Amino acid sequence: MFKHIPVLPEEVLKNFESLDKGEIIVDGTLGRGGHSKILLDKGFKVIGIDRDEDAIVEVERSLSGENGLKIVHSNFFCIKEVLFGLKVEKVGGILLDLGVSTPQLENDERGFGFVGELDMRMDRSQELTAKMVVNEYSEEELERVLYKNGERVNAKNIARSIVEFRADGEIESGERLLEIVEKSIGESYRKSRRHHWATPTFRALRIEVNKDYENIEKFFDLFVNCLRKGGILQIITFHSIEDKIVRKRLRELKQKKIMKLITKKPIEATLKEIMKNSKAKRAKLWVAEMR
Ligand SMILES: C[S@@+](CC[C@H](N)C(=O)[O-])C[C@H]1O[C@@H](n2cnc3c(N)ncnc32)[C@H](O)[C@@H]1O
Repeated sequence: MFKHIPVLPEEVLKNFESLDKGEIIVDGTLGRGGHSKILLDKGFKVIGIDRDEDAIVEVERSLSGENGLKIVHSNFFCIKEVLFGLKVEKVGGILLDLGVSTPQLENDERGFGFVGELDMRMDRSQELTAKMVVNEYSEEELERVLYKNGERVNAKNIARSIVEFRADGEIESGERLLEIVEKSIGESYRKSRRHHWATPTFRALRIEVNKDYENIEKFFDLFVNCLRKGGILQIITFHSIEDKIVRKRLRELKQKKIMKLITKKPIEATLKEIMKNSKAKRAKLWVAEMR
């Protein structure tokens, strides 16, 4: 089956060292339970939240023997309601490991990649899919979505091509979208890219479908009352725009004297970890403490 290797595992554990054993930590991005398992093994209790039903089912199976684990299908910005439902007032720690999991990316049925039907929903009970964005948004909306979510150079051309190509029929698959993106951006640009030239387009659509940035903003509006004094918040980001949002919101909390930043700069993975898990290369870990 699809595996996910947790990033920065030792660092995450170390930053929770000040908490008492037996305290509750919310893992707001349960994924395959990699971080949760490490925390459970250290004697913490964990409330694992994920909006992806597949993640919930998989962890219910793989960590079924763990007494200290409660699993909830929800969005991490609903942390207050989740805790209320479990009759928990405040917790000692919160961890968010943002972005997609390897199983989501690698399972073609989920439609996150360049292959298969365009879907990209983390929560498959929601209506909006990548196929709807590509086929139903206006050219202006498409350009705005691509640009704001990171495809800064080619947003206009790609949006125009999508609208032209869909006049001949619905764009249904990742393969078809890849072809359109390829035709809309110059060969020299494609060749000059370090990463795949279509990644910014696909990632921008994923962010739109899942409202990733809005979720982080809403989380910051709502989590403060859920963390006890001295409680630790850790957030792992994977690309520059989400990192900017987290950095800005943490600085605001610091200025308002609500939180103390434990690290001035985010923690990054060691070369040793990157050699074992290339995904760790882009990871930035922010740590803050409740005052
Ligand atoms: C990078 S993976 C987490 C991997 C996990 N830390 C592990 O070690 O297995 C991110 C997970 O967060 C989930 N996710 C992303 N945004 C979410 C949100 N707003 N609310 C709840 N879960 C979310 C995704 O469905 C995915 O399973």
